[in-house]
This record gives sequence, structure tokens and C-alpha cells, in this order.
Amino acid sequence: MEKLKFIDLFCGIGGFRTAMDEACIENDLIPECVFSSDIDKFCQDSYEANFGHRPSGDITKIDEKDIPDHDILFAGFPCQPFSIIGQRQGFNDIRGTLFFDIARIIKHKQPKAFVLENVKQLVGHDGGRTLKKIIETLEKDLNYHVKFTVLNALDYGLPQKRERVIIVGHKEPILFSFPSPIRPFKPLTEILEKKVDAKHFASEYITQKRKDKHKSAYQLSIWHENKSGNICSYPYSCALRAGASYNYLLVNGERRLTPREMFRLQGFPDKYKIVVNDSQARKQAGNAVPVNLVKAVILKLLPYVATTMDRTLILSDYQDVEYGKQ
Ligand SMILES: C[S@@+](CC[C@H](N)C(=O)[O-])C[C@H]1O[C@@H](n2cnc3c(N)ncnc32)[C@H](O)[C@@H]1O
Repeated sequence: MEKLKFIDLFCGIGGFRTAMDEACIENDLIPECVFSSDIDKFCQDSYEANFGHRPSGDITKIDEKDIPDHDILFAGFPCQPFSIIGQRQGFNDIRGTLFFDIARIIKHKQPKAFVLENVKQLVGHDGGRTLKKIIETLEKDLNYHVKFTVLNALDYGLPQKRERVIIVGHKEPILFSFPSPIRPFKPLTEILEKKVDAKHFASEYITQKRKDKHKSAYQLSIWHENKSGNICSYPYSCALRAGASYNYLLVNGERRLTPREMFRLQGFPDKYKIVVNDSQARKQAGNAVPVNLVKAVILKLLPYVATTMDRTLILSDYQDVEYGKQ
């Protein structure tokens, strides 16, 4: 069986890695992660407990020459540094941004393909200049064929409205297309735990205040309070957020999501071990990439990256159909 080597930058708890492992195994390929990096100690703990190796730390301190060769590069880079990218000019001018670290690694290692992920707000940031600069760097300075789009986790089987920019690059000119929205999202009954510890319930005061303001149209729902205090509820969750206020999402207006429920909302299988405390788990789930969403993208890329797969699959919607069947 063919091995596919990949690296996992800004790996967090391994959303990309989980997706890549699943996509490869379904296609009789052997995924091999040859390098991962995350600066956060608790993410490193989670990653090590689940994948058996501890990610390296700060990527800015890692020489690209020390990174092993690989077929695909994954990076869900933080949104913090892109505030400054848009104004900058050439490749060297993006130095000091975390996107620069991705770019210098791609430039040196020349993977067959890469998948980058960021928040939807990147599209409109600085009047579109930031994303334009990123795409220009990848196309003109690094010579890749690049496409980007915004995808929503809800369209790939997860009951969470989470919109993300996905940027895909490949060295050869192939007819890559993003996966169509294909799967109905899982019902909340498949996400919510039956027995939930009392510590997850909001106070009577909070619950009553919410219920005075809002009546849900759904029997099972997740209530979302926005910054202006408006409450709405849906049979799915709004985007999990690492730094949101404690009661930002409440199941049936009464209780917070448990760590396992948050990990399920991001597509992590139940065999994923949660080894950190509740507040770290909330941060990790809130920062993660939705596994199902990037898995759908990876499934579209695999026939190109894997030499033993039938490349004509790239030209058809075969992968969509297969994915939709599961
Ligand atoms: C948006 S999260 C990515 C989450 C990941 N895709 C997942 O599925 O969990 C960005 C990650 O970048 C990490 N990070 C920030 N600065 C970094 C740096 N200089 N070097 C390595 N990792 C860094 C953060 O700790 C965080 O886990």
C-alpha cells in the first residue's frame, strides 16, 4: 500500500490529522505524519495522547531545512497575524507573520499540495487585500495553482454552523474542485450525551432569563446569545469559539456543552482522548478545524497526490458520491 507523507502545522489537537488519517484509510493508503508543530503545551498534550508523538513548538524557530520531505502540507494558521499581511509587498516583506512561516516551508519543501484553513473573516479583511496578498504569494512567488472558497461544516455532516476559508494549492495543473455540499448534518441526538454532570448546568437565574426572552421552535436545540444579548436557537450549534463567554451556547437554554459534545460537534470520533481540563477542552474544540469539512476536501485531493490512485477520479465527482454514501 502507498504511503502518503504529510506535515501538520499549527496542528492544535489534530483536526487535519484526524481527517487525513480517515481519508487515507478509506482509500487503502497509509498516512504518515512526518512533522507537526504547535506552540501550546496543552495542545501538545492532547496531540501526544492521541497520536503518540509530541509536536514541535514555535514554528518561527524551526528551520525549514529540518522539516522532512512530504507530499501534503496542512496548516490551520491563527488569524491574529493577518492584520498586517495585506499592506505588505513582496515575499520577504511578509516576514514576521505566521503566514510567512508557511510560505517559507512550502518554498523550500515543494509539497505536491497544501491545504490551508482560516476564519471566514479573512475574505473581507482589509478590503480583501490580505487574502489577495496570500494568494499572490502562493501563486507568483511559490508557483502553485491555488483555489480558495468558504465552506460550512453544516454542509459536511456536522450540526455546527462554522464557515471557514479553505485554500488549496497544487504544483501540477489539475482540475481540482471543492467538494459540493453533500451530506445532511447529524441530528443533535447523535451529539448530545444522555447523562450530564450538574456542573454543566447554568444557574437558575440565567436559565430563567433566557427562557423569558426566547421560546425555541425545536424540541432539541442549541441556544446562542450574541454580543447584543439577542437569543436564537437552532437544531444545530453556532460556531464553537475558543474565547466566547461561558454561557454563549446552551443546550435547550439550560446547560453548557460537555467537552465530548464539543469534540463531536467538530467531527472528532469518540475514541479521541480528552486529556485536559474542561476549560482547555473548550479552547481546543473552539480552535479546531471541523474534521468532516477538511476530510471532504482531502478526499478530492487524494487521487492527485497518491500515485497509485486512479487520476481520472479527479475529473469526476466520484469522491463526492462516495462521501455522500457513507
Ligand atoms: C486555529 S488553531 C489550529 C487548530 C488546528 N487546526 C486543530 O484542528 O486543532 C491555531 C494554532 O496555532 C498555534 N500557534 C500559534 N502560534 C504558533 C507558533 N508560533 N508556532 C506554532 N504554533 C502556533 C496555536 O497554539 C493554535 O493551536
